This record gives sequence, C-alpha cells and structure tokens, in this order.
Amino acid sequence: MKETGSPGAGAGKQSKSISQTPAVQALLLQVVSLIVVLLLNAAFAAFFHVTVNVFAAAGVQGVCAALLSKWRGLAPWWLAIQLLFPLALVLASALQLPPWIFLLAFFFLLLLYWTSFRTQVPFYPSGPVVWEKVAELVPADRDIALVDIGSGLGGLLLHLARCFPGSRFVGVELAPLPWLISCLRARLGGSAVRFDRCDYNRLHLGEYDVVFAYLSPAAMPDLWTKARKEMRKGGMLISYEFAIPGIAPSMIISPRFNAAKLHVFHM
Ligand SMILES: C[S@@+](CC[C@H](N)C(=O)[O-])C[C@H]1O[C@@H](n2cnc3c(N)ncnc32)[C@H](O)[C@@H]1O
Repeated sequence: MKETGSPGAGAGKQSKSISQTPAVQALLLQVVSLIVVLLLNAAFAAFFHVTVNVFAAAGVQGVCAALLSKWRGLAPWWLAIQLLFPLALVLASALQLPPWIFLLAFFFLLLLYWTSFRTQVPFYPSGPVVWEKVAELVPADRDIALVDIGSGLGGLLLHLARCFPGSRFVGVELAPLPWLISCLRARLGGSAVRFDRCDYNRLHLGEYDVVFAYLSPAAMPDLWTKARKEMRKGGMLISYEFAIPGIAPSMIISPRFNAAKLHVFHM
C-alpha cells in the first residue's frame, strides 16, 4: 500500500481523553460564554439600569461561543452549532412543551448516538446503492468473513448475507438502539448475520477477509494503524466516504455520479 505523505503513523497514540473531545470542549466554551453574557448583563444593569433581552443575550452567547470555538480550532460545523445552540434553547423553552418531551427526546438521542461525543462517529446509515457496490467487491469465488465496524441498522450486512449465503457476516455496533434494531431485523428475517454490541477496537481484524467501515474523518488514522497491524495479507479494507489521510487507496469507486466514494485498500 502506497503511503503518500504524512500518514496516520502513530495516530494510535493520539486517542484523546474525554475532556479533549470536541463535544466536551464545545460545552465548556458555552459555559464560558454564558458567564461572559451574565457579566455583561450585570454591567448593563449597574451602569445603564437596563437588562438585556433574552434573545439578544442568547445571540451574544452564540457569537461568543463560536468565536472561542474558532480560536480553539474546532471543526467548522461546530462553529455553526455553537452559534445557534443558545438561540435554539431559548426558542425551545418559549414553546412551553411539557418537560417529559425533552426527557424522551434526550433518551432517544442517547440510545441512538450513545458515545459518539467520544468516538466522533455518529449514526447515519448507508443505502442500497452502496450495498450493491460493496457486493461487487466481495470475492464471489470463495466463502469469506466480512465485518462491518459500526454496523448501524445492519442494512449492508443483511443485503450481503442474501447475496453470499455461504459467507460469514458480523456487525459490531456501540449504540444500543441501532444494534437492537439490527438484531431484530436479523431475527425476524431469518438471517444468519451476527450483530454484537461492542467497540470495534476490541476486535482482531485479522479474523476477517474484508473489513467495511463507514465512520468519520476523525476515526480514519487510528483505523489505518489497527488495520495495518492486524489484517492479513490479501485482506481488503473498504471505507465508504472517508479517505485515510496520506494513504493512496488501491481503488476508488463511485456508487453513483457525484456521490461519496468507496475507498478500497488491499493489504
Ligand atoms: C456512519 S454509521 C454507519 C452505519 C452502517 N455501517 C451503515 O453503513 O449503514 C457509523 C456507526 O458506527 C458506530 N460506531 C462508532 N464508533 C464505534 C465503535 N468504536 N465501535 C462500534 N461501533 C461504533 C456508530 O454508533 C454508528 O452507528
């Protein structure tokens, strides 16, 4: 495999503590911005005898948090989240919805996204066009073992198991809700695909001929280090959408015009 620049070498050492994850940093910056707004409000009240309107205060807090996030080097999408978050909170509370709705929404999102604040890999499913392209890449002349690391709702594996009944398909997923749904789909559809609720970092990738990953840019350097260490010679790593920095894939396949690509790495 050709390494084209400064790859993810040593990236395994970069695993961050929870306090360094973007989500936690973003939250801390919102707290700092809230303190700034409260101080400003106190100053306005003391010197001009006016209190700041709650929407204006939320706007100022958002701008302050976005600027601090830029200064801390958070990714661009965090700046938008930071800017809009306080206003969204004020608007949501203005709706005067019953508190249980927020509790329900919180638990639903918790079960769906689980520790993605730490892994930086949220849930979003791939679709049938991608599954068909992956099926074209799977060796058809022998039975193989394939793992989807972060298997979500299990759609890819259930599709592949229908195409290759003799092969072994395993999905691992951290988030409870997608994992439960994938298990139910396998059980109800009579599929032999196995879905485990665990962290793919605990797997030995050498047990599989093909590893499929649809993760996020943040996960790719560590995944490459793990794949290089553990995968067998002749094994295939397929990453949907996300490239591995500094590593040239053996093949790039577009499931459809102008869509995200499959990056194929032969070990
Ligand atoms: C972008 S989704 C892809 C889902 C599925 N592979 C598909 O193609 O539809 C990524 C999934 O990986 C899961 N995930 C993230 N980090 C993980 C980890 N360390 N171990 C297992 N699953 C993980 C997330 O919970 C999420 O469901």
